[in-house]
Amino acid sequence: MQNYERVKSDPVSAELYTKRKPRKHQFEMQMVSEAFQMLPSAEVKAVLDAPCGVGRLSLWLAQKGFEVSAVDLGESAVKLTNELLSDQSFKETAQWQDIFNMQFADGEFDASVCFRLLHHFKEVGDQQKLIAELCRVSSKYVVISYFSTYSVTSLRRRLRKVLTGKPVKQNPMSLSHLKGLFEPHHYELLGTVKRSGFLHSLQVAVFKKSSA
Ligand SMILES: C[S@@+](CC[C@H](N)C(=O)[O-])C[C@H]1O[C@@H](n2cnc3c(N)ncnc32)[C@H](O)[C@@H]1O
Repeated sequence: MQNYERVKSDPVSAELYTKRKPRKHQFEMQMVSEAFQMLPSAEVKAVLDAPCGVGRLSLWLAQKGFEVSAVDLGESAVKLTNELLSDQSFKETAQWQDIFNMQFADGEFDASVCFRLLHHFKEVGDQQKLIAELCRVSSKYVVISYFSTYSVTSLRRRLRKVLTGKPVKQNPMSLSHLKGLFEPHHYELLGTVKRSGFLHSLQVAVFKKSSA
């Protein structure tokens, strides 16, 4: 049974995500932009944004000219993404779907992007299932964020757990662990967005399907 604790079904939690700190939002979108610069533009047209949350990546992808599809298991998240897309005269392509079991054909997309979800899963089984689904529906590339194990914030959270017992909700992982999750699906690391793993928890990696 997969972990469904982080689904944004209710309007309040979905709406809250639209009010993230502008600087943090811009910093993250810059990382997304740098990740997509690693993908050869001639090879990538159809892109899946999974999960889309309230649609900020879907909108960015549509503005960049990609054919965007998006999924989220939060009903409000899907609704807000479609509103955001249609407000800007883009097609409403967000669908209510479970990322662990998506209703898309194998290799339906040239690339998929999974931003700010993986770190919510502690169980390796959940991590494996998520990566397997992303690799299944993508024919060439997967762009994914993860949390660095040795960032100041991760270390502070671990210390707070020791001192106060407050559980840590984020689950950092090493890049080698992440590479290991992709390996069985014949995806290899193409590159990472360069940010200090000590100063920033959030890291972004790009994987490419090997020709083998
Ligand atoms: C932290 S948000 C990130 C959204 C988006 N990628 C972004 O960066 O703005 C995580 C999203 O994952 C969705 N989610 C959690 N579990 C899911 C699942 N099993 N299938 C699809 N979406 C899921 C939540 O509803 C939420 O909208």
